[in-house]
Parts: sequence; structure tokens; C-alpha cells
Amino acid sequence: MRILSGIQPTGRFHWGNYFGAIRQYIALQNGQDTAFYFIANLHALTTVRNKNELEQNTLDAALDLLALGLNPNQATLFVQSDVPEISELCWILMTTTPMGLLERCHAYKDKKAKGLTADAGLFTYPVLMAADILLYDSDLVPVGDDQDQHIEVCRDIAGSFNHTFGETFVMPKAYIVKDSARVPGLDGGGKMSKSYNNAVEVFEPLNVQKKKIMGITTDSRPMEEPKEPDGDHLFTLYSLFASAEQSKTLAETYRRGGFGYGTVKKELVLLAEQFFSEARARRDELTSKPEYVREVLAEGARTARRKGSEVLRRVKDACGL
Ligand code: ADP
Ligand code: TRP
Repeated sequence: MRILSGIQPTGRFHWGNYFGAIRQYIALQNGQDTAFYFIANLHALTTVRNKNELEQNTLDAALDLLALGLNPNQATLFVQSDVPEISELCWILMTTTPMGLLERCHAYKDKKAKGLTADAGLFTYPVLMAADILLYDSDLVPVGDDQDQHIEVCRDIAGSFNHTFGETFVMPKAYIVKDSARVPGLDGGGKMSKSYNNAVEVFEPLNVQKKKIMGITTDSRPMEEPKEPDGDHLFTLYSLFASAEQSKTLAETYRRGGFGYGTVKKELVLLAEQFFSEARARRDELTSKPEYVREVLAEGARTARRKGSEVLRRVKDACGL
């Protein structure tokens, strides 16, 4: 059973990335051969067009993942572009991917709907993602629910290749944790995302984090009024960090009424600080050991390439290359 996932180095990770994706990577790691996680810098190239920024983001992503608990003895961590086999497989898959399948994908469709011009990289983004998954015979792909469509596309691509050339690829499945499938943004308007300016970064300085949390948008109903916790974004954010007992108590307080949102926000500041305090200490320690981090990534790339070249050989044999 192989678990695989990738995350783009397009900025520093936020709570949505942690609860929606990274936490699952860590919970599922169970061996270098069975858990593969990578930093999707080739995908990031569709949006980050600055050499220094992409290099720095890639290193930061590795540091963040290691600090958050990704253990190089329990998982293989690598950078996507360190496995050149990926680009070769991507081309092969493109030859059997119908245009219509890609035209239906959100990222491309949304951009077109806004009247913006998309480049071929954005259009074929899901094919590269399919190659990422299929190159390593992955069974399970932990992601946030916004990536569900891409996993379906990957399954379609694998199915169509298998149909044309005979059973070649392992059929992967998405692994989505329902409770944290969609972490809401600070503005309560939708999902937390770096693109919506409504995110708290995991390793942001504590004073900045506090200011953001205290600024979470809330409604202006009077304090006395009872409120429904389900669907309330402040309550949802609080519950991510709180124990089941603490969440239950807060839900009762909401339903009773007579409390101020400010008190809840202050508690959230403390809970979030505690929750990530060990990771913060580890992050500081790792920052002073860049050589160690580079070695982890180099070793990860070697392991990934071993598996990737074996699968690519099978693919080329299947289609006559
Ligand atoms: P962003 O929306 O900030 O650009 P990405 O698209 O790079 O984030 O997402 C990286 C990973 O984190 C993906 O697996 C995605 O599903 C997950 N993720 C991102 N935002 C959220 C969120 N608000 N809730 C749950 N998961 C999320
Ligand atoms: N598209 C994913 C995201 O934006 C990142 C990604 C690239 C990925 N390749 C992948 C995730 C392969 C899982 C498997 O979050």
C-alpha cells in the first residue's frame, strides 16, 4: 500500500494546509517505501515566476513539513523536479487524455470564466498531477476536498491508458478527512486560502497571528442572543485546536448565548499557540541545519527515482517506447 501526496510551494503553509492535508501526511506515514510526500515545484511554476522566490519557498516547505512532524525515517520526502521521470510520464499520459476532461477542471474553467488567458501549464496541470500519482504506484492520496476532482481525473487518465495499452497503472483513491476537509477563512466567506487573504500561517510570528485571530469577522448580534455553533467559522476554527470536551463546552455556550466573540478569539489565540509550540521550536532548530534538510531531500529523490524509473519502464514497454 503506497500513500502519496504533494503540496505546492506557493507561499508559507496556513491552517487550511495543515488540517486539510499535512496533518494527514503525518498521521499516515509508516515507512520510507510506503509513504511518499513531495514539494510540487513544477506545479508551482504555473504561478510563481521568480527564481529566488521559488527556491526559497521550496526550502521553506521542506523545513515546515519536517518541523510539523514529517519524519524522514517514516516517509520519503522529495522535490518534484528532482525526479525527471515525472515529465516524461506526463507527456505519455497527455497523449491519451481527452481535451474535454481537462476543460471541465476548476482551475482552468474558473480562470477562463473570468476572461483571463490561461497557459498550457494550467490547462494540463491535472495531467502532471496524475503523473505524480501514477509514477509511484500510489494507492491512497491524502488531500483536501478541493483536490477531489483532480484525483478523479487521475483515475480517468489511468483507466483510459489501461484500456488502451493493457493493465499498467495502479488505480489510486483520494483520502479526505471530513472534519477538516474545508477549513474556513478568517472572513467566514469560504475556505481559508492564501489567494483570498483570509489565512493564518502556521509559523507566522505570534503577534501577527494574534492580530489576525482577534480580527476574525463575526456578526453583530447582541451578546445575549443564543447562537448556532454549527457552520459558524469561529467555532469551526476553535474546534480544530480544542479537545472534544472544550468544543462541547463552547457549543453549549453558543446555544445559551450571553458570551462575547472576543473571549472565544482570545482562547483560540492561546490554543493555537500551544498546539504548534513544539513545531515552532523544531522549525527554529532546523533553520540552523540547512545541510541536513538538503540531505533529506537528496535521499528522498533517490528513493523516489528508484520506484519512478521502474514504473516508467513498465509504461514505456506497454506503449512501445
Ligand atoms: P491555497 O488554497 O492556499 O492555495 P493549496 O491549493 O496550495 O492552498 O492547497 C494545498 C493543500 O492544502 C491541498 O491538499 C488542499 O486541499 C489543502 N487545503 C488548502 N486550503 C484548505 C482549506 N481551507 N481547508 C482544507 N484543506 C485545504
Ligand atoms: N494540486 C495539488 C494542490 O494544489 C498539489 C499536488 C500536485 C498533488 N501533485 C499532486 C497532490 C499529487 C496530491 C497528489 O494541492
